[in-house]
Amino acid sequence: MKIIFVVGARPNFIKIAPLVEEAKKYPEISAVLLHTGQHYDNEMSQVFFDELGLPAPDIYLGVGSGSHAIQTAAIMVEFEKICLAQKPTVVVVVGDVNSTLACSLVAAKLQIPIAHVEAGLRSRDRGMPEEINRVVTDALSDLLFTTDEEANKNLIGEGIPESKIRFVGNVMIDTLLKFKKRAGLESKITISNPDYAFVTLHRPSNVDDAGRLAKIFSVLFEISKAIPILFSVHPRTKKQIDNYVCQNYFYYPPVETGAPVILKNALNIFRPLPYLDCLNLMAKAKFVLTDSGGIQEETTILGVPCLTLRKNTERPITISQGTNELVDVEPNNIIEHTKTILDDRWKKSSVPKLWDGRAAERIIKIIYNQYAKNGSE
Ligand code: UD1
Repeated sequence: MKIIFVVGARPNFIKIAPLVEEAKKYPEISAVLLHTGQHYDNEMSQVFFDELGLPAPDIYLGVGSGSHAIQTAAIMVEFEKICLAQKPTVVVVVGDVNSTLACSLVAAKLQIPIAHVEAGLRSRDRGMPEEINRVVTDALSDLLFTTDEEANKNLIGEGIPESKIRFVGNVMIDTLLKFKKRAGLESKITISNPDYAFVTLHRPSNVDDAGRLAKIFSVLFEISKAIPILFSVHPRTKKQIDNYVCQNYFYYPPVETGAPVILKNALNIFRPLPYLDCLNLMAKAKFVLTDSGGIQEETTILGVPCLTLRKNTERPITISQGTNELVDVEPNNIIEHTKTILDDRWKKSSVPKLWDGRAAERIIKIIYNQYAKNGSE
């Protein structure tokens, strides 16, 4: 049986790595790794392949950036040719990026079964492009692998037959658990300050809206007077920082020298961090401020308090069981929560069910049993 594993953007690489590794254990599976090229900079793509031990992609579509329609359409045109030539038994897509949606649409119209890993997450906010990608991908998928039981309920509520849904755990956490120790040993960046907060921001709703971004920067600058902020900056956000009026908010520590970094009481700007550095620096942070989906899950497992700068989350389990709270961009709310964390009064987390490092093992077994000629399911 031939499986095409699709990746496109940074979080996809982290999710696909354990699946590709697991597939190698099955001699009957021919695994084809396809990279759409949605993310293409070395620090957004290649560095993840190197660190996670992912093989070089068998197929690279090289679509690059563009509007949603341009990017999605470009992937579809190229992926259709690949599917017609390769005739895969099944296409595996992960997460909720444009590459996930585009490849699902193509596979569905060619009647190729789709397995969606991380199905059923819902923010109920159609203003997020990812929510649209999730709803459509799930509607088209034949096997829907979920990270928590709430996601199963979401899917059933949308009329998806229960027989297609499998609660298997979280592949992003498979990778975290595998690399956590190595990240501590191999991270190339050492921070001298005993305490710092770790920040990431990249949602268009936060960084493309000048007023909202100004509000965020101003509250972060306020927090940085109490605790330095390590800010790993996504390319989308960098453009805004370069043009921002209050340049005195930002400090650019000399990271390239390799010497221990001394953070200032400001927003200390770092380039997008490779996986091991990111994991290590998050694990050691006093708390994290983010609008990322994956980081809400990672901080829950690392036991690091997380404040999510959004009105909603598709990952409510990180609030009910984890270390996460939604703070939107309300300054008072953010400052209050920050004080609670700095006073060591933050809630304790527990590990969500099946976030045990074995999700990929379960997923590949189910796909094999369902689609291999001699499979048994
Ligand atoms: C995408 C995903 C988002 C995910 C995020 C992780 C969609 C709709 N969004 O958002 O869900 O959380 O990836 O990072 O799929 N750029 C570069 N170099 C790169 C890639 C992008 O400079 O290697 C710049 C380009 O200017 C581009 C912009 O970043 O226009 C946005 O990239 P894009 O892939 O469209 O969306 P992300 O914001 O990265």
